[in-house]
Amino acid sequence: MSRFPKDFLWGGAISAHQAEGGFDEGGKGLTKSDVMTGGSVSSPRKETYIDKDGNRQYLIHQTGVRLPEGAHYAVFDDEYYPNHVAIDFYHRYREDIALFAEMGFKIFRMSIAWTRLFPTGEEETPNEAGIQFYKDVFNELHKYNIEPLVTLWHDDTPLALEEKYGGWSNRKLIELYDRYVNTCFREFKGLVKYWLPFNEVNNILMFLDMFGNVSSDKMYQDAYQELHHKFVATAHAVKAAHEIDPDNMVGCMICGVPFYPATCDPKDILNNYYMWEKGIFYSSNVLCKGTYPTFAKRLWKEHDVKVQMTEEDLKEIRENPVDMYTFSYYMSSNVTTHTNDDVVGGNCTSGVRNPYLEYSEWGWSTDPLGLRYFLEKIYGMYEKPIIIVENGLGAADVLNEDGTVHDDYRIDYCRKHIEEMANAIANGVDLRGYTPWGVIDLISAGSGEMKKRYGFIYVDRQQNGQGTLNRYRKDSFYWYKEVIASNGEKL
Ligand code: BG6
Repeated sequence: MSRFPKDFLWGGAISAHQAEGGFDEGGKGLTKSDVMTGGSVSSPRKETYIDKDGNRQYLIHQTGVRLPEGAHYAVFDDEYYPNHVAIDFYHRYREDIALFAEMGFKIFRMSIAWTRLFPTGEEETPNEAGIQFYKDVFNELHKYNIEPLVTLWHDDTPLALEEKYGGWSNRKLIELYDRYVNTCFREFKGLVKYWLPFNEVNNILMFLDMFGNVSSDKMYQDAYQELHHKFVATAHAVKAAHEIDPDNMVGCMICGVPFYPATCDPKDILNNYYMWEKGIFYSSNVLCKGTYPTFAKRLWKEHDVKVQMTEEDLKEIRENPVDMYTFSYYMSSNVTTHTNDDVVGGNCTSGVRNPYLEYSEWGWSTDPLGLRYFLEKIYGMYEKPIIIVENGLGAADVLNEDGTVHDDYRIDYCRKHIEEMANAIANGVDLRGYTPWGVIDLISAGSGEMKKRYGFIYVDRQQNGQGTLNRYRKDSFYWYKEVIASNGEKL
């Protein structure tokens, strides 16, 4: 008997801005990644803009940091922007979906680019070409019985809204997002039933704490306000999704990082617990239980934050919790109050090196047991069906002359994580699906590189935009196909 439920949703995940390309085709508007350069593990991505005096400028991309007064974002003709072409999913989705089908996918997580439907975010009616593109993609998936799982916002607010309103800390964004998501629920009714309103909604608080608590109180004020607006927008989305089609299931999407205390010093234990509260439970509680947790007051006080909210907001949040819990999982983080210079980064967080774990070239730990820990803890707290919507190993794969890619390290990583998923299910967790990240190589969100590859499918696109864009099956492709065919037994 299989350790996984018989209808377990095996699949893979991508996002629009990291895969589609076609950044100015089909009437699409610009988003932040369209004005971001490439970077690397040691040099950050930059945003390009024109300052108030008309000069070209570069701003280091960092959560909470805004353009100076009077400046506006710009695309420079002589600059390379990796997301403009990405892996050209926009033109090659049929070929890619055929490859996913060959692996036996049951589900495919992708995102809709808000700016394909509403180029500036403020149009009264949607752009037909954008609607048609996604209908074509969803129909192609259904041709192979692959269920789409759709993220409605994957870090891609229309740039025009960032410039005009300063982004999500402005309440105006709620109504514009409502218009966009309602359009999606209506237009794609019958084609999509799994929806995620916001990718890694919690990660803004983690980013602000990354590499020491150096962010200003104003940044926290904006971040908590932004989060509140996203909580309200999620509640609206849950309500509308259910009204438009009772089959719809809406999930929160949390950046899933289990925090460990680096020592048994009670200060570390308490500090670690507070990291869970701020990083994970604050957002999870509001979205799953429909209320702000008691510790919210302590968190706001830390940075003298006053979140503007109405009674109506709280009612909407209370009445419309999400149906399922989804999260990304790559690594755990090890935190301490003691002086320790051996600091390592990771997905939206940083901590001190854990001597029991191995680290990737990009400094992310590999911790399969951390996945089981997170699964069991979260299910125990919220008791909602779970889908792991991101997991994987970013590595610099090598394409051999015969078109093969031997990525045994990735197979090993995924095998160990799937083992722990089976263990969590045996311990009672209602885990329904697994969509490994960047199942086809794509542009790294953090570093803007092509070199940091997660895929089971190799894409011949190199760091500076060279390459044929041809697709190749890696060793992990054949391995994952067997995993799916055996429902997780043949690992
Ligand atoms: C998650 C994001 O934080 O991590 C993805 O949802 C991202 O968009 C993924 O790609 C991996 O991060 P990176 O920086 O390796 O691309």
